[in-house]
Amino acid sequence: MSASASEPRPSTPSKKRSKWEEEDDEEPLFVPQPKRRAKSKPSKISDNFQPPAVQVADASSTISRPMHSRFVPPRTRHPPIQPSRSVYSYERLNQIEEGSYGVVFRARDKQTGDIVALKKLKLDEEKSGFPITALREVYALMSCRHENVVGIREVVVGDTLTQVFVVMDFIEHDLKSLLTVMPSPFLQSEIKTLMLQLLSAVNHCHENWILHRDLKTSNLLMNNRGTIKVADFGLARRFGDPVGVGGLTQLVVTLWYRAPEILLGATTYSTAIDLWSVGCIFAELLLKEPLFQAQGELELISMIFKLLGAPTKSSWPDYSSLPLAKTITLPSPQPHQFRQKFPYLTSAGLDLLMSFLTYDPECRITAAEALQHPFFTESPLPKHPDLFGSFPSAAAGEKRRKPFDSPTAPRGAHLQASDESNVNMFARQDIA
Ligand SMILES: Nc1ncnc2c1ncn2[C@@H]1O[C@H](COP(=O)(O)OP(=O)(O)O)[C@@H](O)[C@H]1O
Ligand SMILES: [Mg+2]
Repeated sequence: MSASASEPRPSTPSKKRSKWEEEDDEEPLFVPQPKRRAKSKPSKISDNFQPPAVQVADASSTISRPMHSRFVPPRTRHPPIQPSRSVYSYERLNQIEEGSYGVVFRARDKQTGDIVALKKLKLDEEKSGFPITALREVYALMSCRHENVVGIREVVVGDTLTQVFVVMDFIEHDLKSLLTVMPSPFLQSEIKTLMLQLLSAVNHCHENWILHRDLKTSNLLMNNRGTIKVADFGLARRFGDPVGVGGLTQLVVTLWYRAPEILLGATTYSTAIDLWSVGCIFAELLLKEPLFQAQGELELISMIFKLLGAPTKSSWPDYSSLPLAKTITLPSPQPHQFRQKFPYLTSAGLDLLMSFLTYDPECRITAAEALQHPFFTESPLPKHPDLFGSFPSAAAGEKRRKPFDSPTAPRGAHLQASDESNVNMFARQDIA
């Protein structure tokens, strides 16, 4: 167990910057133009060369038929494949976030005037082509379109092949920063609304065979109209596909939000890992600070044991078969401490929280089940999003106060992630 709270993000740093990222907010001095094709010299044979006659199938004709199988839909029904636009289609406004590994900008679409966010994909130093993690991020965003998932607009390219940006709708806040600047915590009715939105997004991702694998408050964006959007699909992947011999990587989910089965080395985890993270987020909304602020994996395991009570044969029958279970000395059985930790939560709320933070992934509540939980129908009822207060947006240019430091997602996931066999990542090419 080597991961610690200070682990960096899994992908390689983006060192090479495009002119677009560096210039002042003026028009770029250099705008890449399509290269002019050199006037072709007349070749010796060209004078006499006649292109072969192209036979175009006439739709009205019953005699001429297309040259492909009659089971393949006509070409017009396929999505058009378009080249990506240039990043210079956008005017850079300000940098929203510069971690040591990724960078997100706020920008304006020069054609429509729309304000958007551009996230630079982490491609530098990639030796074996376009990284599968970057493809997964784009693929997951495209296949999980939903009211509560950040909207992807297109993918644009910079000056070189390592400068690829995902263009998304701009959302004013992320929940982690918001929790630190808010003068008072969210109300119960507001927490219900936020949880319903989060669960509805997670349910949608799972219904579309996508595991997010990095749910945490800094990856949840919130606009000034009381709506949250799940973002950062940088560690997402399809599930249900055949998996390589090594299984799924354990280098997923930022430490504090990581499910116990991953901590104990499970390689066959599934949707339940996202629901554990949802439980940690629920607790964070209630406490106004992260639930498990551990420095390393061992400390996290002992914090989980303390809150939930140590796992037993009945609470987690498969515990002893997990790869790392033998390396851990179980403390003597203790009752859980949920009530002491959350004294003001109703019994229904506590029941929901405990259903997320359940040891056995088989027994952990699903997103679809959680949406039906009585907590959401008891008083106080969820607040209508329109009634949420609004806050000044740090991301829209004001100096941002650095919130509490939470650990980053684990290093090396992109290396292991590419070992996980995944056959269906290239399903869509219609990015534009
Ligand atoms: N669409 C967006 N609108 C506004 N801010 C965003 C958007 N996407 C990301 N951000 C900001 O950038 C931060 C980092 O983005 P994220 O996608 O989580 O990248 P990383 O992989 O570096 O964590 C987020 O925590 C959020 O503050
Ligand atoms: Mg993130």
